[in-house]
Amino acid sequence: MPTTETPGAPPAEERVFRPAPSTVIEANVKPAELVEAYRLAAADHPGYWEQAALELEWHRKWDAVLDDSRPPVYRWFPGARTNIVHNALDRHVHIWTKNKLALIWEGEAGDCRKFTYFELYREVNRLAGALRALGVGRGDRVCLYMPPIPETVVAMLATAKIGAVHVFVFAGYAAKFLRERVNEAGAKVLVTADGFYRGGKLINLKAVVDEGLADARPDVAETVVVVRRTGGDIDMQEPRDLYYHDLLRQESPEAATEIMEAGEPLFWLPTSGTTGKPKSVVHSHGGYMVGAHHTFRTVFDIKPTDIHFCTADPGWITGHTYGVYGPLLTGATVILYEGHPLYPQADRLPAIIERYGATIFYATPTLIRMLMRYGPQYPKNRDISTLRLLGSVGEPLGPDAWMWLYKHIGRSNCPVLDTWWQTETGMAMLSPMPISLLKPGSVGKALPGVAADVVDEDGRPVPPGQSGFLVLGKPWPGMLTGLAGDDAAYAAYWEKIPGVYFAGDLARRDEDGYFWIQGRADDVLNIAGHRIGTAEVEAALCSHRFVADAAVIGLPDKIKGEVAKAFVVPSPQWQEAYADADAFASDLRAHVRRELGPIVIVRAVALRESLPRTHSGKILRRVLREEEEAGGKLF
Ligand code: WT7
Repeated sequence: MPTTETPGAPPAEERVFRPAPSTVIEANVKPAELVEAYRLAAADHPGYWEQAALELEWHRKWDAVLDDSRPPVYRWFPGARTNIVHNALDRHVHIWTKNKLALIWEGEAGDCRKFTYFELYREVNRLAGALRALGVGRGDRVCLYMPPIPETVVAMLATAKIGAVHVFVFAGYAAKFLRERVNEAGAKVLVTADGFYRGGKLINLKAVVDEGLADARPDVAETVVVVRRTGGDIDMQEPRDLYYHDLLRQESPEAATEIMEAGEPLFWLPTSGTTGKPKSVVHSHGGYMVGAHHTFRTVFDIKPTDIHFCTADPGWITGHTYGVYGPLLTGATVILYEGHPLYPQADRLPAIIERYGATIFYATPTLIRMLMRYGPQYPKNRDISTLRLLGSVGEPLGPDAWMWLYKHIGRSNCPVLDTWWQTETGMAMLSPMPISLLKPGSVGKALPGVAADVVDEDGRPVPPGQSGFLVLGKPWPGMLTGLAGDDAAYAAYWEKIPGVYFAGDLARRDEDGYFWIQGRADDVLNIAGHRIGTAEVEAALCSHRFVADAAVIGLPDKIKGEVAKAFVVPSPQWQEAYADADAFASDLRAHVRRELGPIVIVRAVALRESLPRTHSGKILRRVLREEEEAGGKLF
């Protein structure tokens, strides 16, 4: 790894970086204001968030800021009415942001489309009208299986505008996963695209949709709206499939915005719960809006001249909160990129920063480690001097990647905001602010209005420097309002350690109150910032006809952070079907990829006669992990 450290300098994680004076002078939240924010939040927690809510427009104000009378169900802003799209889009059409760029989109081939707030507003209204004409209304679910293209943002906003609920299934998930989510959501309409470009290849997304819907419930996905992105050869099934562009042609550029109760659902988003089974997290119009807006304005320090480049796909929570809603709520300009981050070569992201003059770059550690592997000459050959803030999210960044990002992307001049949060939290929870002292590898302190702690299994705070479980002590506005159709699983987050939200991460806190995230504490893998339950991978393996039993653990990986290792008990006939264990293993890897999608990477497969289990039949992954660390079979 290229480092140019002074010999004898302390290790990265013991160093502290100070913000430049200009960063402090120009920050949206200056030092005295941050002190005041912490003071107010400690003295009056709801009062702090009420102030944040007053930064937005409401059709009716709340009867109370927070109803916490029935924990663990928390209702933010009960009685209030609004629609997140009113604040993210409609209101801009009446103020100076009307003709400002909302969205800059770049296709993988370098094609570019730009939308002002006004243009985005009109496009969203047309789709809103079309969805209404298809019979979609308040509370109905609309499934989105979309690549990173402008119509994806349009579809999210149009769904929310009419009070329907978007259920995004990331386009890297496989057909079976899509089917399960469409069935679970009972979505009458699915919006997708013919395909998209990634890594120089045309990905035929519509073919996956056709496969996924082939055995879906008969009452779901009655209509499939298809955006023409590539013009590739696809199968349009009449009368189910309709082209987006045909639908919109006849629609009005004006559409009424449905006024929602603050607690009504805005979207569902699937993630692996703490048990490893996919769960749909539910977020609301009111609380989520306040959390997304406030954190984007304060943490990302957004200014009218900013161009925010969020590399996350819109289909993940990062894309929802800081790629779409946060930026639009603050009237910012956001860049959306369609393709592979290293295509056609490793300077692609720096080239995008250069081309549009991006000022904020928000990426994942996996991406940063990929850039790091190619070396500093790639960002160096591009003018990325417009950058003023860097962000990271999704997995531990670590001091080495932190230093590389700081030096080679940030020219030792841009604060690195390593933001810790989750699909469930909806908004950043732990993060430095642009004015904070920075420690490479740390996610900083809890943000004002966020109560975080590191505790032992009985809920007792552990002393500084010691590892424990990361918990959140008080409700926060961006929090999930529930898990779709599973109250017990929602309650489980609060029952593991009674009274607090159990995040599922291991962490320590230092003497200064800075948090250091060490990874998951449960049966969840984090592959390139994507949370994948070991149980999901095990179920996929067990669906293979020659697998009798399977267990999965995480292996550390230099780039992806973590990859999966599978321990498989084969059924006796496997040897008749495969030449050798290697052929069997590669078929198993391909099988998991087919079942779950390319984001699930199984690096190694070991064949076993049996798996270590508890008396009650639970797999002892701990034993498998110990065996792995010892470098071989222990039993
Ligand atoms: C899990 C949540 C929130 C967007 C992306 C992931 C890990 C998240 C960090 C960070 C270390 C992090 C945690 C967390 N994680 N951010 N800055 N440093 N780990 O969302 O799929 O819901 O996963 O990602 O383990 O619990 P998600």
